Amino acid sequence: MKLNLKIWRQEDAKTKGEFKNYQLDEVHGDMSFLEMLDVLNNELIENGKEEPIEFDHDCREGICGMCSLQINGEAHGPDRGITTCQLHMRKFKDGDTIVIEPFRANAFPVVKDLAVDRSAFDRIQQAGGFISVNTSGNTQDANSIPIEKENADLAFNAATCIGCGACVAACKNASAMLFTSAKVSQYALLPQGEIEATDRVLNMVAQMDKEGFGNCTNTGACEVECPKGISLENIARLNREYLAASLKG
Ligand code: SF4
Ligand code: FES
Repeated sequence: MKLNLKIWRQEDAKTKGEFKNYQLDEVHGDMSFLEMLDVLNNELIENGKEEPIEFDHDCREGICGMCSLQINGEAHGPDRGITTCQLHMRKFKDGDTIVIEPFRANAFPVVKDLAVDRSAFDRIQQAGGFISVNTSGNTQDANSIPIEKENADLAFNAATCIGCGACVAACKNASAMLFTSAKVSQYALLPQGEIEATDRVLNMVAQMDKEGFGNCTNTGACEVECPKGISLENIARLNREYLAASLKG
C-alpha cells in the first residue's frame, strides 16, 4: 500500500519543530510500524538529503517500554493493549495519511524528532521504587513468606508496567499518576514493601511533582492507552497510601 506520513521533525529541545511530509509506496501489511519507519529511514539515508528520523526502540516485542510514538493522536496508535513496536501496518489502508508525533509532555523534553527524554520516570523510581533486603547471610526465601493470592496477583499486575509513558502522553494534564501508582502498588501489596511504605509514597509523589507532571483529574485516558492494562484502581491505592503516610508523617 501507499502511505502519506506527516512526521514531527525537531533538532533538539531548544529548537522549534515542524511536521514534514513523506510518502512510502510499498508498505506491506505484515510490517511492524517500526519496520515501516526503518524503510523510510533507509530511503532517507540513500537519498542523502535529510537525516534519518530519530525514534526510540529496543526490544521490539512489547517488553522494554522504549518505543513511544503518538500515532494519529493516540499513544501507541489505534490498537489497544499493545506498544508501538507490536502495531502492524495491516491496521492501516492504502492511501491513508498517518500523523506521527513524539509523546508530548513538559516533563518529557524532545531529544530529537520522535525521541523524548523519559528519565523523569527513572528519578521517580529512584525516589522509592526499592525495598530493603537483609543480605547478611540469613536472607529469608521470598517463597516462604505467605501472601494472599489476590494480593499477589494485583502486585504482579502492577509490576507489569513497562515505564513507556503512554499514560502521560494520553493525559490532558500530562499526569504520571498511573505510572507512579503502579510502582507504589507493586510494593504496597506485599509484606516486603512494608518497611519503606511511608517514605516510598511520600518521596515518589514529591519527585513526580518536582518533575513537572500534572495532576490527575480522573478522566481515565491513561488506563485506555496503557499497553499493559494498568488499572485506575492503582491510583486509588496510591491516594490511600499517600493519605495514610501523610497522617503518620
Ligand atoms: S502505566 Fe502503562 S502507559 Fe504508563 S508507563 Fe506503565 S505501562 Fe506505560
Ligand atoms: S521497543 Fe520495547 S516495548 Fe517497544
